[in-house]
Amino acid sequence: MTQGSQQEVEGSTLPGGFVSAVNLLLMPEDRFFKMAAGRLSFRNITALAPMVRVGTLPMRLLALDYGADVVYCEELIDIKMAQCHRVVNEVLHTVDFVAPDDRVVFRTCEKEKGRVVFQMGTADPDRALTVARLVEKDVAAVDVNMGCPKEYSTKGGMGAALLSDPDKIEAILRKLVSGVSIPVTCKIRILPSLEETIRLVQRIEKTGVTAVAVHGRLKEERQRHPLHCDYIQAVARAVSIPVIANGGSLDLVKTNADIEEFRRATGASSVMLARAAMWNPSVFASQGPLPVEGVMEEYLKYAIEFDNHAFNTKYCLCQMLRDKVESPLGKQLQAAQSSAEISAAYGLQEFYQQTQERLQTRRAALQSGSEPDRPVVDGDLTTMAVKFERREYPPQITPKMFLLEWSRKEKMEPPLYQMVQRSQDRGFQATVTVAGKKYRSSLWEKSKKFAEQAAAVVCLRVLEIPEGRVGEEESGLVCKRKRDGKTNGTAEQDSSKKQHLSAEKQQETQTPKTPVVANGDSRRADTIPEQL
Ligand SMILES: Cc1cc2nc3c(=O)[nH]c(=O)nc-3n(C[C@H](O)[C@H](O)[C@H](O)COP(=O)(O)O)c2cc1C
Repeated sequence: MTQGSQQEVEGSTLPGGFVSAVNLLLMPEDRFFKMAAGRLSFRNITALAPMVRVGTLPMRLLALDYGADVVYCEELIDIKMAQCHRVVNEVLHTVDFVAPDDRVVFRTCEKEKGRVVFQMGTADPDRALTVARLVEKDVAAVDVNMGCPKEYSTKGGMGAALLSDPDKIEAILRKLVSGVSIPVTCKIRILPSLEETIRLVQRIEKTGVTAVAVHGRLKEERQRHPLHCDYIQAVARAVSIPVIANGGSLDLVKTNADIEEFRRATGASSVMLARAAMWNPSVFASQGPLPVEGVMEEYLKYAIEFDNHAFNTKYCLCQMLRDKVESPLGKQLQAAQSSAEISAAYGLQEFYQQTQERLQTRRAALQSGSEPDRPVVDGDLTTMAVKFERREYPPQITPKMFLLEWSRKEKMEPPLYQMVQRSQDRGFQATVTVAGKKYRSSLWEKSKKFAEQAAAVVCLRVLEIPEGRVGEEESGLVCKRKRDGKTNGTAEQDSSKKQHLSAEKQQETQTPKTPVVANGDSRRADTIPEQL
Protein backbone atom coordinates (compact mmCIF):
# COMPACT_ATOMS: atom_id res chain seq x y z
CA MET A 1 0.00 0.00 0.00
CA THR A 2 1.26 3.44 -0.86
CA GLN A 3 -0.09 6.26 1.17
CA GLY A 4 -0.39 10.01 0.84
CA SER A 5 0.79 10.80 4.33
CA GLN A 6 1.55 8.33 7.06
CA GLN A 7 0.15 10.84 9.50
CA GLU A 8 -3.28 10.85 7.83
CA VAL A 9 -3.48 7.09 7.86
CA GLU A 10 -2.66 6.89 11.53
CA GLY A 11 -5.13 9.71 12.11
CA SER A 12 -7.87 7.19 11.51
CA THR A 13 -6.95 5.37 14.71
CA LEU A 14 -5.69 8.33 16.70
CA PRO A 15 -6.11 11.89 15.44
CA GLY A 16 -2.86 13.54 14.39
CA GLY A 17 -1.65 16.04 16.96
CA PHE A 18 -3.43 14.24 19.77
CA VAL A 19 -0.60 11.96 20.78
CA SER A 20 2.04 14.40 21.88
CA ALA A 21 -0.29 16.84 23.59
CA VAL A 22 -1.76 14.32 25.98
CA ASN A 23 1.12 11.92 26.04
CA LEU A 24 1.42 11.67 29.79
CA LEU A 25 -2.29 11.78 30.59
CA LEU A 26 -3.52 9.03 28.29
CA MET A 27 -0.57 6.67 28.39
CA PRO A 28 -2.30 3.28 28.86
CA GLU A 29 -4.97 3.70 26.14
CA ASP A 30 -2.57 5.60 24.00
CA ARG A 31 -0.05 2.83 24.12
CA PHE A 32 -2.75 0.39 23.11
CA PHE A 33 -2.78 2.01 19.67
CA LYS A 34 0.97 1.82 19.42
CA MET A 35 1.15 -1.87 20.04
CA ALA A 36 -0.17 -4.47 17.62
CA ALA A 37 -0.75 -7.84 19.27
CA GLY A 38 1.66 -6.95 22.07
CA ARG A 39 4.36 -5.86 19.64
CA LEU A 40 5.53 -2.31 19.17
CA SER A 41 3.99 -0.96 15.97
CA PHE A 42 6.20 2.15 15.79
CA ARG A 43 3.18 4.15 14.60
CA ASN A 44 2.49 7.54 16.14
CA ILE A 45 5.41 7.32 18.48
CA THR A 46 7.95 9.78 19.78
CA ALA A 47 11.27 8.10 20.40
CA LEU A 48 14.56 8.77 22.13
CA ALA A 49 17.11 8.23 19.33
CA PRO A 50 20.08 5.90 19.70
CA MET A 51 23.04 7.86 21.00
CA VAL A 52 26.44 6.43 21.89
CA ARG A 53 27.23 7.10 25.57
CA VAL A 54 23.98 9.05 26.05
CA GLY A 55 21.43 6.27 25.58
CA THR A 56 22.26 4.26 28.71
CA LEU A 57 19.63 3.15 31.23
CA PRO A 58 19.26 6.38 33.30
CA MET A 59 18.64 8.52 30.22
CA ARG A 60 16.21 6.01 28.76
CA LEU A 61 14.18 5.80 31.97
CA LEU A 62 14.08 9.56 32.30
CA ALA A 63 12.94 9.99 28.69
CA LEU A 64 10.14 7.49 29.34
CA ASP A 65 9.13 9.37 32.51
CA TYR A 66 8.83 12.56 30.53
CA GLY A 67 6.68 10.97 27.85
CA ALA A 68 8.81 9.29 25.19
CA ASP A 69 6.98 6.23 23.89
CA VAL A 70 10.03 4.29 22.82
CA VAL A 71 13.69 4.53 23.79
CA TYR A 72 16.66 3.28 21.79
CA CYS A 73 19.85 2.21 23.50
CA GLU A 74 23.21 3.44 22.31
CA GLU A 75 24.63 1.54 19.35
CA LEU A 76 26.34 -1.61 20.59
CA ILE A 77 28.71 -3.46 18.33
CA ASP A 78 27.77 -7.05 17.53
CA ILE A 79 31.24 -8.52 18.18
CA LYS A 80 31.34 -7.05 21.67
CA MET A 81 27.77 -8.03 22.49
CA ALA A 82 28.22 -11.57 21.22
CA GLN A 83 30.85 -12.11 23.93
CA CYS A 84 28.50 -11.01 26.71
CA HIS A 85 26.65 -13.15 29.20
CA ARG A 86 23.16 -12.37 30.35
CA VAL A 87 23.01 -11.97 34.10
CA VAL A 88 20.03 -11.22 36.32
CA ASN A 89 21.27 -8.63 38.79
CA GLU A 90 19.26 -9.30 41.92
CA VAL A 91 20.60 -6.30 43.78
CA LEU A 92 19.64 -3.69 41.18
CA HIS A 93 16.72 -5.67 39.73
CA THR A 94 18.18 -5.34 36.27
CA VAL A 95 19.25 -7.66 33.51
CA ASP A 96 22.88 -7.08 32.64
CA PHE A 97 24.86 -8.15 29.60
CA VAL A 98 28.36 -8.52 30.91
CA ALA A 99 31.57 -8.67 28.87
CA PRO A 100 34.44 -11.05 29.67
CA ASP A 101 36.28 -8.11 31.29
CA ASP A 102 33.28 -7.75 33.67
CA ARG A 103 32.09 -4.52 32.16
CA VAL A 104 28.32 -4.17 31.90
CA VAL A 105 27.82 -3.49 28.22
CA PHE A 106 24.02 -3.27 28.28
CA ARG A 107 21.78 -2.92 31.32
CA THR A 108 18.00 -2.96 31.18
CA CYS A 109 15.13 -3.29 33.65
CA GLU A 110 11.46 -4.12 33.92
CA LYS A 111 10.35 -0.49 33.70
CA GLU A 112 11.49 -0.13 30.09
CA LYS A 113 10.63 -3.65 28.99
CA GLY A 114 8.31 -3.44 26.01
CA ARG A 115 9.60 0.00 25.07
CA VAL A 116 13.35 -0.32 24.73
CA VAL A 117 14.87 -0.89 21.29
CA PHE A 118 18.27 -2.51 21.12
CA GLN A 119 20.40 -0.90 18.42
CA MET A 120 23.33 -2.84 17.10
CA GLY A 121 26.21 -2.07 14.81
CA THR A 122 26.76 -4.99 12.48
CA ALA A 123 27.93 -5.98 9.04
CA ASP A 124 27.35 -9.68 9.46
CA PRO A 125 23.93 -11.40 9.29
CA ASP A 126 24.90 -14.39 11.45
CA ARG A 127 26.48 -12.31 14.17
CA ALA A 128 23.54 -9.93 14.09
CA LEU A 129 21.21 -12.84 14.69
CA THR A 130 23.32 -14.20 17.54
CA VAL A 131 23.13 -10.84 19.28
CA ALA A 132 19.43 -10.36 18.56
CA ARG A 133 18.69 -13.75 20.09
CA LEU A 134 20.80 -12.94 23.12
CA VAL A 135 18.70 -9.87 23.95
CA GLU A 136 15.41 -10.96 22.42
CA LYS A 137 13.49 -11.61 25.60
CA ASP A 138 14.63 -8.43 27.33
CA VAL A 139 13.93 -5.81 24.67
CA ALA A 140 10.95 -4.71 22.58
CA ALA A 141 12.71 -4.61 19.21
CA VAL A 142 16.10 -4.76 17.56
CA ASP A 143 17.42 -2.06 15.26
CA VAL A 144 20.36 -2.01 12.89
CA ASN A 145 22.38 1.17 12.61
CA MET A 146 22.86 2.07 8.93
CA GLY A 147 23.52 5.74 9.37
CA CYS A 148 26.61 6.24 11.48
CA PRO A 149 29.26 8.00 9.34
CA LYS A 150 32.01 7.73 11.96
CA GLU A 151 35.12 5.84 10.92
CA TYR A 152 34.96 3.36 13.79
CA SER A 153 31.66 2.18 12.40
CA THR A 154 32.22 2.40 8.64
CA LYS A 155 35.67 0.79 8.60
CA GLY A 156 34.13 -2.47 9.70
CA GLY A 157 31.48 -2.18 6.98
CA MET A 158 28.90 -1.13 9.59
CA GLY A 159 26.78 2.00 9.97
CA ALA A 160 26.61 4.24 6.91
CA ALA A 161 28.93 1.87 5.00
CA LEU A 162 25.97 -0.46 4.67
CA LEU A 163 24.13 2.14 2.59
CA SER A 164 26.36 1.33 -0.37
CA ASP A 165 25.79 -2.42 0.04
CA PRO A 166 22.03 -3.02 -0.25
CA ASP A 167 22.57 -6.77 -0.68
CA LYS A 168 24.20 -6.87 2.75
CA ILE A 169 21.38 -4.76 4.20
CA GLU A 170 18.86 -7.19 2.82
CA ALA A 171 20.75 -10.23 4.09
CA ILE A 172 21.04 -8.82 7.62
CA LEU A 173 17.44 -7.71 7.85
CA ARG A 174 15.98 -10.89 6.39
CA LYS A 175 18.03 -13.00 8.74
CA LEU A 176 16.85 -10.98 11.73
CA VAL A 177 13.20 -10.85 10.68
CA SER A 178 13.04 -14.61 10.23
CA GLY A 179 15.18 -15.38 13.26
CA VAL A 180 13.60 -13.44 16.13
CA SER A 181 10.07 -13.00 17.36
CA ILE A 182 10.31 -9.28 18.13
CA PRO A 183 10.07 -6.42 15.60
CA VAL A 184 13.15 -5.55 13.57
CA THR A 185 13.84 -1.99 12.42
CA CYS A 186 16.71 -0.05 10.91
CA LYS A 187 17.93 3.52 10.88
CA ILE A 188 19.33 4.99 7.68
CA ARG A 189 20.58 8.25 6.23
CA ILE A 190 19.39 9.46 2.84
CA LEU A 191 21.23 8.71 -0.43
CA PRO A 192 22.38 11.37 -2.96
CA SER A 193 19.20 11.19 -5.04
CA LEU A 194 15.58 10.84 -4.05
CA GLU A 195 15.09 7.91 -6.44
CA GLU A 196 17.96 5.94 -4.90
CA THR A 197 16.69 6.67 -1.41
CA ILE A 198 13.18 5.53 -2.23
CA ARG A 199 14.46 2.41 -3.99
CA LEU A 200 16.54 1.50 -0.96
CA VAL A 201 13.72 2.02 1.54
CA GLN A 202 11.32 -0.01 -0.62
CA ARG A 203 13.86 -2.80 -0.68
CA ILE A 204 14.19 -2.53 3.08
CA GLU A 205 10.41 -2.69 3.44
CA LYS A 206 10.31 -5.96 1.51
CA THR A 207 12.54 -7.64 4.08
CA GLY A 208 9.67 -7.54 6.54
CA VAL A 209 11.00 -4.92 8.95
CA THR A 210 8.41 -3.21 11.12
CA ALA A 211 9.64 0.36 10.62
CA VAL A 212 12.47 2.45 9.28
CA ALA A 213 13.98 5.56 10.83
CA VAL A 214 15.24 8.11 8.34
CA HIS A 215 17.82 10.70 9.35
CA GLY A 216 17.31 13.25 6.59
CA ARG A 217 20.96 13.94 5.89
CA LEU A 218 23.54 12.46 3.52
CA LYS A 219 26.29 10.45 5.12
CA GLU A 220 28.77 13.19 4.17
CA GLU A 221 26.68 15.88 5.82
CA ARG A 222 27.26 17.02 9.39
CA GLN A 223 24.66 17.73 12.03
CA ARG A 224 24.78 21.49 11.32
CA HIS A 225 23.70 21.05 7.69
CA PRO A 226 20.04 21.73 6.92
CA LEU A 227 17.75 18.71 7.06
CA HIS A 228 16.17 17.34 3.86
CA CYS A 229 12.60 17.13 5.08
CA ASP A 230 11.43 16.63 1.50
CA TYR A 231 13.35 13.31 1.32
CA ILE A 232 11.73 12.03 4.49
CA GLN A 233 8.35 13.12 3.15
CA ALA A 234 8.88 11.32 -0.16
CA VAL A 235 10.00 8.15 1.59
CA ALA A 236 6.98 8.26 3.91
CA ARG A 237 4.74 8.40 0.84
CA ALA A 238 6.52 5.57 -0.91
CA VAL A 239 6.24 2.87 1.75
CA SER A 240 3.52 1.60 4.00
CA ILE A 241 5.63 0.69 7.03
CA PRO A 242 5.94 3.50 9.58
CA VAL A 243 8.72 5.97 8.83
CA ILE A 244 10.34 7.62 11.83
CA ALA A 245 11.56 11.11 11.00
CA ASN A 246 14.89 12.10 12.48
CA GLY A 247 17.36 14.95 12.29
CA GLY A 248 15.31 17.95 13.38
CA SER A 249 16.86 18.69 16.75
CA LEU A 250 18.92 21.75 15.95
CA ASP A 251 16.55 23.89 13.88
CA LEU A 252 13.13 22.32 14.00
CA VAL A 253 12.50 20.78 17.39
CA LYS A 254 13.11 22.88 20.47
CA THR A 255 9.90 22.31 22.38
CA ASN A 256 7.41 19.51 22.74
CA ALA A 257 4.96 21.31 20.42
CA ASP A 258 7.63 21.31 17.71
CA ILE A 259 7.65 17.52 17.68
CA GLU A 260 4.19 17.47 16.20
CA GLU A 261 5.15 20.17 13.72
CA PHE A 262 8.14 18.11 12.63
CA ARG A 263 5.94 15.08 12.15
CA ARG A 264 3.55 17.10 9.99
CA ALA A 265 6.38 18.67 7.98
CA THR A 266 7.83 15.29 7.12
CA GLY A 267 4.52 13.42 6.73
CA ALA A 268 6.11 10.66 8.75
CA SER A 269 4.32 8.41 11.15
CA SER A 270 6.69 9.01 14.05
CA VAL A 271 9.48 11.22 15.29
CA MET A 272 12.84 10.38 16.82
CA LEU A 273 14.89 12.92 18.79
CA ALA A 274 18.58 12.76 19.59
CA ARG A 275 20.23 16.06 20.51
CA ALA A 276 17.11 17.86 21.72
CA ALA A 277 16.62 15.00 24.18
CA MET A 278 20.30 14.80 25.08
CA TRP A 279 20.29 18.50 26.00
CA ASN A 280 17.05 18.21 27.90
CA PRO A 281 15.06 14.94 27.95
CA SER A 282 12.01 16.77 29.30
CA VAL A 283 11.41 17.88 25.72
CA PHE A 284 9.22 14.74 25.65
CA ALA A 285 6.90 16.22 28.31
CA SER A 286 3.84 18.10 27.09
CA GLN A 287 5.06 21.32 28.76
CA GLY A 288 8.67 20.59 27.91
CA PRO A 289 11.40 21.42 28.01
CA LEU A 290 11.40 22.01 31.78
CA PRO A 291 14.25 23.84 33.60
CA VAL A 292 17.33 21.69 33.08
CA GLU A 293 18.55 21.96 36.71
CA GLY A 294 15.66 19.80 37.95
CA VAL A 295 16.03 17.46 34.99
CA MET A 296 19.72 16.89 35.78
CA GLU A 297 18.80 15.98 39.35
CA GLU A 298 16.25 13.44 38.15
CA TYR A 299 18.83 12.04 35.78
CA LEU A 300 21.42 11.74 38.52
CA LYS A 301 18.98 9.94 40.82
CA TYR A 302 18.44 7.26 38.18
CA ALA A 303 22.19 7.05 37.61
CA ILE A 304 22.74 6.47 41.34
CA GLU A 305 19.92 3.96 41.68
CA PHE A 306 21.13 1.89 38.75
CA ASP A 307 24.81 2.13 39.57
CA ASN A 308 25.62 3.85 36.31
CA HIS A 309 29.31 4.23 35.53
CA ALA A 310 30.46 7.58 36.95
CA PHE A 311 32.16 8.70 33.75
CA ASN A 312 29.06 7.99 31.73
CA THR A 313 26.92 9.93 34.22
CA LYS A 314 29.35 12.82 34.06
CA TYR A 315 29.33 12.82 30.26
CA CYS A 316 25.54 12.99 30.09
CA LEU A 317 25.31 15.74 32.71
CA CYS A 318 27.92 17.77 30.79
CA GLN A 319 25.76 17.48 27.65
CA MET A 320 22.81 18.86 29.61
CA LEU A 321 24.87 21.71 31.02
CA ARG A 322 25.81 22.74 27.45
CA ASP A 323 27.18 26.30 27.56
CA LYS A 324 27.06 26.27 31.38
CA VAL A 325 29.84 23.72 31.48
CA GLU A 326 32.25 26.43 32.67
CA SER A 327 29.91 27.53 35.50
CA PRO A 328 30.88 26.71 39.13
CA LEU A 329 28.62 23.63 38.95
CA GLY A 330 30.15 22.64 35.64
CA LYS A 331 33.67 22.93 37.04
CA GLN A 332 32.74 20.88 40.10
CA LEU A 333 31.20 18.26 37.84
CA GLN A 334 34.25 18.12 35.62
CA ALA A 335 36.49 17.67 38.63
CA ALA A 336 34.36 14.82 40.03
CA GLN A 337 35.90 11.34 39.72
CA SER A 338 33.21 9.18 41.32
CA SER A 339 29.45 8.95 41.66
CA ALA A 340 29.81 10.19 45.26
CA GLU A 341 31.60 13.33 44.07
CA ILE A 342 29.11 13.95 41.26
CA SER A 343 26.28 13.59 43.80
CA ALA A 344 28.00 16.09 46.08
CA ALA A 345 28.22 18.61 43.22
CA TYR A 346 24.43 18.43 42.89
CA GLY A 347 23.73 18.40 46.64
CA LEU A 348 22.52 14.81 46.43
CA GLN A 349 24.99 13.32 48.95
CA GLU A 350 22.19 12.13 51.21
CA PHE A 351 20.29 10.47 48.37
CA TYR A 352 23.53 8.83 47.25
CA GLN A 353 24.31 7.62 50.79
CA GLN A 354 20.83 6.26 51.41
CA THR A 355 20.77 4.48 48.06
CA GLN A 356 24.16 2.91 48.75
CA GLU A 357 22.95 1.68 52.14
CA ARG A 358 19.76 0.26 50.66
CA LEU A 359 21.71 -1.60 47.97
CA GLN A 360 24.23 -2.82 50.51
CA THR A 361 21.46 -4.16 52.76
CA ARG A 362 19.95 -5.97 49.84
CA ARG A 363 23.32 -7.40 48.83
CA ALA A 364 23.89 -8.62 52.36
CA ALA A 365 20.42 -10.13 52.60
CA LEU A 366 20.99 -12.04 49.38
CA GLN A 367 24.34 -13.21 50.71
CA SER A 368 23.14 -14.33 54.10
CA GLY A 369 20.15 -16.17 52.82
CA SER A 370 17.60 -14.09 54.68
CA GLU A 371 15.79 -13.67 51.40
CA PRO A 372 12.85 -16.06 51.17
CA ASP A 373 14.10 -19.28 49.63
CA ARG A 374 11.41 -19.67 47.03
CA PRO A 375 12.46 -20.39 43.48
CA VAL A 376 12.70 -17.47 41.09
CA VAL A 377 12.26 -18.51 37.49
CA ASP A 378 13.81 -16.46 34.72
CA GLY A 379 13.55 -18.17 31.36
CA ASP A 380 15.34 -21.48 31.64
CA LEU A 381 17.13 -20.49 34.84
CA THR A 382 15.72 -21.13 38.31
CA THR A 383 17.39 -19.46 41.27
CA MET A 384 16.89 -20.03 44.99
CA ALA A 385 18.67 -18.68 48.03
CA VAL A 386 20.24 -21.93 49.27
CA LYS A 387 23.35 -22.51 51.32
CA PHE A 388 24.97 -25.94 51.42
CA GLU A 389 25.28 -27.08 55.05
CA ARG A 390 27.59 -30.10 55.24
CA ARG A 391 26.31 -31.16 58.65
CA GLU A 392 22.79 -31.67 57.26
CA TYR A 393 24.01 -34.70 55.24
CA PRO A 394 25.50 -38.05 56.29
CA PRO A 395 29.28 -38.24 55.80
CA GLN A 396 29.26 -40.15 52.49
CA ILE A 397 26.23 -38.47 51.00
CA THR A 398 25.95 -35.29 49.01
CA PRO A 399 23.17 -33.66 46.99
CA LYS A 400 25.35 -33.91 43.86
CA MET A 401 25.43 -37.64 44.31
CA PHE A 402 21.66 -37.80 44.57
CA LEU A 403 21.23 -35.66 41.51
CA LEU A 404 23.59 -37.82 39.50
CA GLU A 405 21.86 -41.04 40.59
CA TRP A 406 18.49 -39.56 39.78
CA SER A 407 19.52 -38.49 36.29
CA ARG A 408 20.94 -41.95 35.65
CA LYS A 409 17.69 -43.53 36.79
CA GLU A 410 15.76 -41.19 34.52
CA LYS A 411 18.19 -42.07 31.68
CA MET A 412 19.21 -38.43 31.27
CA GLU A 413 22.52 -36.78 30.53
CA PRO A 414 24.58 -36.34 33.71
CA PRO A 415 24.23 -32.93 35.36
CA LEU A 416 26.62 -30.31 33.99
CA TYR A 417 28.20 -27.77 36.33
CA GLN A 418 29.53 -24.32 35.43
CA MET A 419 31.42 -22.21 37.91
CA VAL A 420 32.00 -18.48 38.24
CA GLN A 421 34.06 -16.60 40.77
CA ARG A 422 33.74 -12.95 41.69
CA SER A 423 36.74 -10.86 42.58
CA GLN A 424 35.38 -8.82 45.50
CA ASP A 425 35.44 -11.72 47.99
CA ARG A 426 36.57 -14.63 45.77
CA GLY A 427 33.13 -16.20 46.29
CA PHE A 428 31.95 -19.02 44.02
CA GLN A 429 28.63 -19.64 42.35
CA ALA A 430 27.74 -22.72 40.33
CA THR A 431 25.01 -23.37 37.82
CA VAL A 432 23.90 -26.90 37.11
CA THR A 433 22.17 -27.86 33.88
CA VAL A 434 19.76 -30.78 34.04
CA ALA A 435 17.47 -31.73 31.15
CA GLY A 436 18.18 -28.42 29.43
CA LYS A 437 17.20 -26.32 32.47
CA LYS A 438 19.59 -24.40 34.67
CA TYR A 439 19.58 -24.21 38.48
CA ARG A 440 21.62 -21.91 40.67
CA SER A 441 21.79 -20.67 44.23
CA SER A 442 21.74 -16.88 44.51
CA LEU A 443 24.09 -17.17 47.48
CA TRP A 444 27.83 -17.27 47.03
CA GLU A 445 29.95 -19.99 48.62
CA LYS A 446 33.51 -19.95 49.85
CA SER A 447 34.49 -23.07 47.93
CA LYS A 448 33.78 -24.46 44.50
CA LYS A 449 32.77 -27.70 46.11
CA PHE A 450 30.04 -26.11 48.21
CA ALA A 451 28.87 -23.93 45.31
CA GLU A 452 28.22 -27.04 43.21
CA GLN A 453 26.44 -28.75 46.09
CA ALA A 454 24.24 -25.67 46.57
CA ALA A 455 23.33 -25.68 42.86
CA ALA A 456 22.47 -29.38 43.11
CA VAL A 457 20.26 -28.70 46.16
CA VAL A 458 18.36 -26.01 44.22
CA CYS A 459 17.76 -28.43 41.37
CA LEU A 460 16.67 -31.26 43.68
CA ARG A 461 14.32 -29.04 45.67
CA VAL A 462 12.73 -27.50 42.58
CA LEU A 463 12.20 -30.93 41.01
CA GLU A 464 11.10 -32.29 44.40
CA ILE A 465 13.66 -35.08 44.34
CA PRO A 466 15.13 -36.44 47.60
CA GLU A 467 18.48 -34.85 48.35
CA GLY A 468 19.83 -37.22 50.98
CA ARG A 469 19.55 -35.01 54.05
CA VAL A 470 19.78 -36.60 57.49
CA GLY A 471 16.30 -37.65 58.59
CA GLU A 472 14.94 -37.63 55.07
CA GLU A 473 12.87 -40.62 54.14
CA GLU A 474 14.81 -43.41 52.38
CA SER A 475 14.57 -42.84 48.63
CA GLY A 476 16.65 -45.71 47.35
CA LEU A 477 18.57 -43.34 45.09
CA VAL A 478 21.85 -44.07 46.85
CA CYS A 479 22.46 -47.46 48.52
CA LYS A 480 21.83 -47.75 52.26
CA ARG A 481 25.40 -48.74 53.16
CA LYS A 482 26.64 -45.54 51.61
CA ARG A 483 23.98 -43.55 53.45
CA ASP A 484 25.14 -45.18 56.65
CA GLY A 485 28.73 -44.30 55.87
CA LYS A 486 29.92 -47.93 55.47
CA THR A 487 32.52 -47.99 52.73
CA ASN A 488 34.31 -51.27 53.36
CA GLY A 489 33.23 -54.40 51.69
CA THR A 490 32.04 -56.21 48.71
CA ALA A 491 32.99 -56.24 45.08
CA GLU A 492 29.55 -54.90 44.34
CA GLN A 493 30.18 -51.86 46.48
CA ASP A 494 33.58 -51.42 44.94
CA SER A 495 32.07 -51.44 41.50
CA SER A 496 29.42 -48.93 42.63
CA LYS A 497 32.23 -46.75 43.94
CA LYS A 498 34.02 -47.06 40.61
CA GLN A 499 30.84 -46.04 38.86
CA HIS A 500 30.75 -42.87 40.92
CA LEU A 501 34.37 -42.21 40.15
CA SER A 502 33.85 -42.71 36.44
CA ALA A 503 30.82 -40.43 36.56
CA GLU A 504 33.00 -37.90 38.27
CA LYS A 505 35.55 -38.27 35.48
CA GLN A 506 32.83 -37.96 32.86
CA GLN A 507 31.62 -34.77 34.49
CA GLU A 508 35.10 -33.39 34.48
CA THR A 509 35.40 -33.85 30.77
CA GLN A 510 31.99 -32.32 30.25
CA THR A 511 32.63 -29.21 32.27
CA PRO A 512 32.76 -26.46 29.63
CA LYS A 513 36.01 -24.61 29.18
CA THR A 514 34.43 -21.36 28.10
CA PRO A 515 34.82 -18.39 30.43
CA VAL A 516 31.72 -17.35 32.31
CA VAL A 517 31.17 -13.96 33.86
CA ALA A 518 28.34 -12.55 35.84
CA ASN A 519 26.78 -9.71 37.75
CA GLY A 520 29.26 -7.06 36.71
CA ASP A 521 31.20 -7.69 39.89
CA SER A 522 34.44 -8.90 38.50
CA ARG A 523 33.98 -12.60 38.23
CA ARG A 524 36.39 -14.85 36.50
CA ALA A 525 35.55 -18.11 34.83
CA ASP A 526 36.62 -21.10 36.76
CA THR A 527 36.34 -24.32 34.92
CA ILE A 528 37.98 -26.73 37.31
CA PRO A 529 35.35 -29.30 38.18
CA GLU A 530 34.58 -30.27 41.73
CA GLN A 531 34.42 -33.72 43.23
CA LEU A 532 31.09 -35.34 43.77
C1 LIG B 1 26.02 11.98 21.05
C2 LIG B 1 25.39 11.31 19.88
C3 LIG B 1 25.54 9.95 19.71
C4 LIG B 1 24.93 9.29 18.64
N1 LIG B 1 25.01 7.94 18.56
C5 LIG B 1 24.26 7.29 17.61
C6 LIG B 1 24.13 5.88 17.64
O1 LIG B 1 24.66 5.20 18.53
N2 LIG B 1 23.40 5.29 16.67
C7 LIG B 1 22.77 6.01 15.68
O2 LIG B 1 22.08 5.42 14.84
N3 LIG B 1 22.86 7.35 15.65
C8 LIG B 1 23.56 8.00 16.60
N4 LIG B 1 23.59 9.36 16.62
C9 LIG B 1 22.79 10.10 15.61
C10 LIG B 1 21.40 10.41 16.16
O3 LIG B 1 20.68 9.25 16.49
C11 LIG B 1 20.58 11.23 15.16
O4 LIG B 1 20.45 10.51 13.99
C12 LIG B 1 21.20 12.58 14.85
O5 LIG B 1 21.73 13.21 15.99
C13 LIG B 1 20.17 13.50 14.23
O6 LIG B 1 19.04 13.64 15.07
P1 LIG B 1 18.78 14.96 15.95
O7 LIG B 1 18.68 16.10 14.99
O8 LIG B 1 17.51 14.71 16.67
O9 LIG B 1 19.96 15.14 16.83
C14 LIG B 1 24.20 10.04 17.68
C15 LIG B 1 24.08 11.43 17.83
C16 LIG B 1 24.66 12.06 18.92
C17 LIG B 1 24.47 13.54 19.07
